Amino acid sequence: MRLIDPPLITSEAIQQRIMELAETIASDYGADPILMIVVMKGSLFFAADLARALHRALSLDYIRAKSYAGTERTGAVHLLHLPETDLAGQHVLVVEDILDTGHTAVAVCDYLRSQGPASVRLCTLLDKPSRRQAGVEADYAGFVIEDHFVVGYGLDFNEGWRHLRAIHRLEEG
Ligand code: IMP
Ligand code: MG
Repeated sequence: MRLIDPPLITSEAIQQRIMELAETIASDYGADPILMIVVMKGSLFFAADLARALHRALSLDYIRAKSYAGTERTGAVHLLHLPETDLAGQHVLVVEDILDTGHTAVAVCDYLRSQGPASVRLCTLLDKPSRRQAGVEADYAGFVIEDHFVVGYGLDFNEGWRHLRAIHRLEEG
């Protein structure tokens, strides 16, 4: 697979959008401390930048979910690691890389809700609404994109390309 240049979303556009999201999130949560649950590994870099754009009370934990092999959806979502933090009474902000079919977000949010938090909100860097199968919408979405397979800034193809600063489409070859 080859990267398509120029990027679909540049590093500058990502960072600019993160500042806007952080402002909205800070104003929505008011004085409530945020427990950010990072959905690994795809939202690693997004969560790191978003958390550091939030100058307020915040703690971090992570959950691991897996639903994809290459670009093929395998259907079932496996939760491979669960947060160690006690979620009871906490204001949870789930940070996802991409909302595609929505199955991962539903599995993650359902599990987190079962742990008695005060609230659960979902923030995704990318949203592909045309692919949605599960009934879920993000409370905060960075960019709405067409049905392209993209990599970079945390998103992978077979575990590669996560380290790129920008988000690129891939082509065969
Ligand atoms: P969903 O469960 O179908 O919403 O898919 C969520 C997961 O699929 C994401 O967290 C990604 O890991 C992966 N995924 C979906 N679309 C893409 C893409 O375009 N590039 C890389 N990974 C993707
Ligand atoms: Mg992935």
